Amino acid sequence: MNEEEKEELELNRIQEEEDEDLLEVDDIRTNLKDLKIVTDDQDKTSVMERINRGDFLHIAAPMVRFSKLPFRLLCKKWGCDLTFSPMLLAESFNRSEFARDSDFTTNQFDNSLIVQFAANDGEELSAAVEKVANHCQGVDINCGCPQKWIIRENMGAGLLTTPEKIEEMIKTTTRRITNIPLSIKIRIQKDMSQTIELAKRAERAGVSWITVHGRTSSQRSSHPVDYDAIKLVKESIGIPVFANGDIFTLDQANDIRDKTKVNGVMSARGILCNPALYMGYDTTPIECIKEFIDINSQIGGLNTDIFHRHLMYMLYSVNSKAEKKEFNLLSTTPSIIDFIKDKYYL
Ligand SMILES: Cc1cc2nc3c(=O)[nH]c(=O)nc-3n(C[C@H](O)[C@H](O)[C@H](O)COP(=O)(O)O)c2cc1C
Repeated sequence: MNEEEKEELELNRIQEEEDEDLLEVDDIRTNLKDLKIVTDDQDKTSVMERINRGDFLHIAAPMVRFSKLPFRLLCKKWGCDLTFSPMLLAESFNRSEFARDSDFTTNQFDNSLIVQFAANDGEELSAAVEKVANHCQGVDINCGCPQKWIIRENMGAGLLTTPEKIEEMIKTTTRRITNIPLSIKIRIQKDMSQTIELAKRAERAGVSWITVHGRTSSQRSSHPVDYDAIKLVKESIGIPVFANGDIFTLDQANDIRDKTKVNGVMSARGILCNPALYMGYDTTPIECIKEFIDINSQIGGLNTDIFHRHLMYMLYSVNSKAEKKEFNLLSTTPSIIDFIKDKYYL
């Protein structure tokens, strides 16, 4: 992706951040009978086994609105070892059956799933984790979301300044739920000694790995990622570390692996634009786009807006300016699919 493309994604992201309606209801229904996703033996191996045997993991990041079931299944087919859910609010998840049903959809093929929660209380978090523990490979605590209202509630990046809260949540949850790993996803802090202290504390409290986004909570995604900071975290603790930030190609992923010696890499905007990036593709292959349409129609579908946005991102480097203009104006699922079918003779 060039600078202009990254900038546009960044603009979209800001829009996402301004939208506080995180628990938007999507009309996703799973239809297991018709789903033809290929699975392999590796799927049955737990995350920790894979890390312990030395696998380097390629990870699709949590993304509010986007990292839902159809996209996770696509990412998994195109080279992701782990696929995160969007951030779910533990409290709403516990209180509302409606929120659970609409925000957490999975199926038997979604078996590289890490469910991410935003929480500020151990009892609340562990109750939510208990509900998903038999349906995922692990659970993650969001300690990096920079949205103002999340920070005000002492969740997301707000937790970075209250490490004792993170410790309490980890201890309570790992005491109560022992069959799956618990991890945290953090941003770095200006004073790296605080980040190292926090990472060590989380390790002692019982997390299985830490994902480090190499930016502070006030830095936008146009700000360069501090890979030295990620390396420092990796060197300071004994548990696995995953590096996150500005991974748009497999070469970049490999460079970051070599530079930081982490156990895996996580991509958000890169994987959104090109779910096949970990397989070495520079742009989204048309077969991947076709599969996204197929998966989405087989399992019941994302709402039209999200489905459209996914395809806008995937086609960003593929469509000409005029095609983008035409494509972006479409407003119904059939017209979106017809456009792609006509263009690619599908
Ligand atoms: C649209 C969008 C939604 C996001 N939602 C979440 C989220 O739910 N949980 C989270 O921990 N991070 C979220 N993030 C942050 C990403 O997971 C990632 O940390 C950040 O974008 C840096 O990675 P990148 O440089 O590969 O984009 C989101 C990012 C984007 C672009």
